[in-house]
Amino acid sequence: MIKFARKFGDLGIKGKKAHQYDEFSRTYRTGDFKEYASLAAQHVGAGGSVLDVATGPGYFCIELARLSNLSITGLDISNDLVEIARANARTAGVEVDFLEANASAMPFPDDVFDFVFCSWSIKNFSEPTKVLNEMYRVLRRGGTALTSAACGGGRRRAMPSITSSSSSGNRCRSLSARPARLSPVAPRVR
Ligand SMILES: C[S@@+](CC[C@H](N)C(=O)[O-])C[C@H]1O[C@@H](n2cnc3c(N)ncnc32)[C@H](O)[C@@H]1O
Repeated sequence: MIKFARKFGDLGIKGKKAHQYDEFSRTYRTGDFKEYASLAAQHVGAGGSVLDVATGPGYFCIELARLSNLSITGLDISNDLVEIARANARTAGVEVDFLEANASAMPFPDDVFDFVFCSWSIKNFSEPTKVLNEMYRVLRRGGTALTSAACGGGRRRAMPSITSSSSSGNRCRSLSARPARLSPVAPRVR
């Protein structure tokens, strides 16, 4: 099904499904987002910048904004979800820059974010390798990327993987006691 859909474009979540996904995330995933936000805050120094790729309803960004003064950006290909994320941030009383964009061609220069996050979305991308390249391109040298994927049908189970980019090359290590698997970061393509 995913292979079939990828042939025809990105799997952006729109319309009624966007609102259902928002409700699902708020109800079941707040704990996950608090955990990931706390991890991100530990990896980024004061005044640093964070990008959430395919942010959906924006809850990772919102939880991070609650506990830090970092500069936070969330992007998603679905205009409906971007509007929902903006409304969620307003309700929470936090500042996040949400924008509509394709993760395969991000509208940012190279080396700008200290932390790049992507959760539950690799399977939704029509060009997952391009997105991983883009995540690497916009990540600062010495920055950190964290990806998380749902697995095994259990909606509370996730496979987090973290990658640090450094001048001596990429270092990968798994995080937390959850089942972990390293996601490959494709070589930077210039
Ligand atoms: C399963 S949701 C995950 C949302 C959020 N990261 C989370 O953990 O709840 C997948 C998201 O990927 C977005 N998406 C799909 N293709 C995309 C692309 N090429 N660029 C940006 N976002 C994309 C969808 O609109 C949707 O918000």
